[in-house]
Amino acid sequence: MNTKQELIEGLNQDLAHEYQAVIAYTTYAAEVAGPFRPNLRAFFLEEAADELKHAQMLADKISALGGVPTVEPAAVPQATSARAMLEAVLAAETETVERYAGRMAQAEQAGELALAAQIHEMIVDETHHKEEVAKMLEGFPE
Ligand SMILES: [Fe+2]
Ligand SMILES: [Fe+2]
Repeated sequence: MNTKQELIEGLNQDLAHEYQAVIAYTTYAAEVAGPFRPNLRAFFLEEAADELKHAQMLADKISALGGVPTVEPAAVPQATSARAMLEAVLAAETETVERYAGRMAQAEQAGELALAAQIHEMIVDETHHKEEVAKMLEGFPE
């Protein structure tokens, strides 16, 4: 497989995870219950909008590179309590930041510098998501 095909495959993996994030945040916004619902719902809806922008960027880029954007989301973790939702989100955002660090290097190696810069921006967004959720979990009731 050549470099470009490998990059398209990697971006499709990222796209599947962005769709997963859109679904997870949208579902959690609907289902979250308890005294923190208003804040958590607003937070989840804001995140869902960010993840949808990431998904669109990736789909556009995959298509521009001559690939076919996936329509299959990665598996969405089920969570019933507010705390379990935040823990699932923290794990997903942490994994995403790591995956994008690797993808940025891959894009640079492939000479796709604009893509590398866009991935850099997503790393900024995902790190912010991750840090906000980590703060929310501090002292969050079981
Ligand atoms: Fe994202
Ligand atoms: Fe995120």
